[in-house]
Amino acid sequence: MALVTMKELLTMAEKNDIATGAFSVGNMEMVMGAVVAAEELNTPIILQIAEVRLKNSPLELMGPMMLAAAKNAKVDIAVHLDHGLNIETVQKALDLGFTSVMFDGSLLSLEDNISSVKEVVRRASKYGATVEAELGVVGGNEGEGTAHEIKCTSPDDAKIFCDETGIDALAVAIGNAHGNYPVAPQLRLDVLDDIHKKVSTPLVLHGGTGISDEQFRQAIKLGIRKVNIATASFDKLAEYAKIYCDSTEKANYFELSSRQAEGVYENVKRHIKIFSFID
Ligand code: 13P
Repeated sequence: MALVTMKELLTMAEKNDIATGAFSVGNMEMVMGAVVAAEELNTPIILQIAEVRLKNSPLELMGPMMLAAAKNAKVDIAVHLDHGLNIETVQKALDLGFTSVMFDGSLLSLEDNISSVKEVVRRASKYGATVEAELGVVGGNEGEGTAHEIKCTSPDDAKIFCDETGIDALAVAIGNAHGNYPVAPQLRLDVLDDIHKKVSTPLVLHGGTGISDEQFRQAIKLGIRKVNIATASFDKLAEYAKIYCDSTEKANYFELSSRQAEGVYENVKRHIKIFSFID
């Protein structure tokens, strides 16, 4: 198995009426935990890192590790830049060999979002890399800073956006938000259904942490082909590390490292099963 483009995984997900899990990683333990879960379930995944996380986990260190993990895995894995905010970062990811990039122009006007994404599509095509972009505004925030107000994607604008940019994947805003939800969200499945009827581009659901199994599966039936999970993995890693540290007089680095990977493994495995309809 191998490092593949995200487009290949989305095509396969479309054929099988499932979604591919896209799991955010910030250190080696997260990469290892996610890959072991994918291998155990014999299911491809996407490993991703968002631009706002690069302060903690620099791209030039994380990128080669994510790519090496994908190349050595027993399942197909795509390596993706999540929420690219600057064209320079997108270019850096492409130069490192990422097989997929997202440009997040969701706070721009439709016209400016289209023109920025077109430039990303032009650059990515030289590398054969997949491009994801967002329309509408997903709530919360990816990292620190003020939370964004949710603005549902307009199905008509989605059609214009996909037609004009030629993107491979469209991130939609349907009541979803990044981070932990104060109460479990009720996704606007009616809006998703309208988008899906107008647009043949595979759809992406951000803000996966805290969405119910039932809502995930309903959304997948309405065209979601990629689901992003970040907070749940970061939280599980911290939870498992804390349980271990609290359980011993003197914490051991190697045990701590294993526990971190185990927390992420459990979370990734649980989500892959939901997205692949494995019971
Ligand atoms: P969560 O942190 O809510 O899981 O969202 C992940 C995400 O959408 C990353 O882009």
